[in-house]
Amino acid sequence: MRLLSGEASDELARRMAADLQTPMVERDIARFPDGEIHVRLHEELRDADTYVVQSTGPPTQEHLTELLLLADAAHRAGSQRVTAVVPYLAYARQDRRTATGEPVGLRVVAELLRASHVDRIVVVDPHTPALESVFGMPVEITTAVPILAEALRDHVTADSVLVAPDLGAAKLVDRYAELLDLDVAIIRKTRVSGDEVTANAVVGDVHRRRPIIVDDMISTAGTLQTAVAALRDAGAVDGVVVAASHGVLVGAAVERLLAVPVELVITTDSLTRSASPLPLETVSLARRLSDVVLRLHHGRPLDELAAHA
Ligand code: R5P
Repeated sequence: MRLLSGEASDELARRMAADLQTPMVERDIARFPDGEIHVRLHEELRDADTYVVQSTGPPTQEHLTELLLLADAAHRAGSQRVTAVVPYLAYARQDRRTATGEPVGLRVVAELLRASHVDRIVVVDPHTPALESVFGMPVEITTAVPILAEALRDHVTADSVLVAPDLGAAKLVDRYAELLDLDVAIIRKTRVSGDEVTANAVVGDVHRRRPIIVDDMISTAGTLQTAVAALRDAGAVDGVVVAASHGVLVGAAVERLLAVPVELVITTDSLTRSASPLPLETVSLARRLSDVVLRLHHGRPLDELAAHA
């Protein structure tokens, strides 16, 4: 088993390597003057079962290209099998056409990965659970929900209610509810543009309750900002806690979350970020992903990992 990382997930991969007691594959990643990315592995990977760890968060195109080049390099260095471990998978929201003239972006990414000799992909709480129908390769989905639920436990009070900020998070909120034994409310949301949404209704009892909002990702935080406004209108109390598997936090996200304001945002290290003025808590996916890699390496099922932190 060999672990190789891209620049987006180097820290996470190193934690996994420590857990797995496996040295990382030595590599260089550089930029040519014209902006092309150049990668070079410094060792042969003859017959190796190689895991390339690389999230595809911002700068998305750069990180995606790095992943493709690393996978191709790993294949050409002799790997018997190449698995892309992509904790945060970009383009997952483009899993279908919503208007004439659009591509199926996720399908394009899947084909690029296949063309780069990726045999299998591991993702964490992807936006669409129907990934496998788009990817022409095995897709192993793992989840950060039990880890995030554990981190939330300290912030649960007698009046807490879990909230899905849109219908897409309805199944997700149920998984948190099972682990934390809390009531659930759901917001009906309409997306106006990439960073603007409107909330149509709050379904469930939030009056005088403290909301814990859960989602797969926070991107521009438009969804959260709108959700909190709708919750206030419905009589929820302030002191909102948020848990999301992926803290993409782009555009006006930080300002929006500071303005809301949120009491705490809990995310994972699927994406690395620089210092933030937000009240952020980050839980690591390293142990979970190491378990996944070990199981895949030994051909063992992942099912029993699902429910535990
Ligand atoms: C949407 O369906 C997702 O589950 C998230 O709610 C959404 O992508 C978050 O994006 P933003 O933070 O930009 O509203």
